[in-house]
Amino acid sequence: MRIDIISVVPKLMESFFDHSIIKRAREKDLLQIELHNLRDYTSYRHSQVDDYQFGGGAGLVLMAEPLANAIEALQKDRNYDEIIFLTPDGKPFDQGEANQLSLKNNLLMICGHYKGIDQRIRDLFVTKEISIGDYVLSGGELAAAVVSDAIGRLIPGVLNDESSALTDSFQDDLLAPPVYTRPENFRGQHVPEVLIGGNHALIEKWRSEC
Ligand code: 6GU
Repeated sequence: MRIDIISVVPKLMESFFDHSIIKRAREKDLLQIELHNLRDYTSYRHSQVDDYQFGGGAGLVLMAEPLANAIEALQKDRNYDEIIFLTPDGKPFDQGEANQLSLKNNLLMICGHYKGIDQRIRDLFVTKEISIGDYVLSGGELAAAVVSDAIGRLIPGVLNDESSALTDSFQDDLLAPPVYTRPENFRGQHVPEVLIGGNHALIEKWRSEC
């Protein structure tokens, strides 16, 4: 799978994608993530990418032209299964959406900033609008990282133990049971007896009842 992400602050996401499970997925060539700076696609002077909104009101809006240039430049090299705009008024992201998106080959994500992006980009190019929760972030970058992480770990081969994605919290609408590691006694708090007994049927029963 390949995920292209357009942003005015791509560096915000660099460190996140260079660590842990997503880093491993990229090293194994199971996942390719490419960050694109919107300023590289503007033809306005001083690398301008935003402007005041028609009709007045506080806050700058990302202009249509640089965004269209960026999207069309990327579309020259591949067909995108979805062009996703990360926005607080999008559809709430959940595990079902992560599962669906993990089956795609090419995703393009657009991160808004400031007051958002020119509506015509949403009308002309965007195929899916996603929110990661009912609160407002300063930009779509953290949301793009969240969505990419949730998708990336579902790609077969990314997790070492394939079963571990299947037993995740929410994967089957159940909360995961509590987990413990050594020591057995931590400040007088003991690991539940059943987990130490070695009776796997009982352990599964206990876990399913948590
Ligand atoms: Cl996707 N973007 C922004 N800017 N804020 C958000 C969000 C997205 N999801 C929740 N809040």
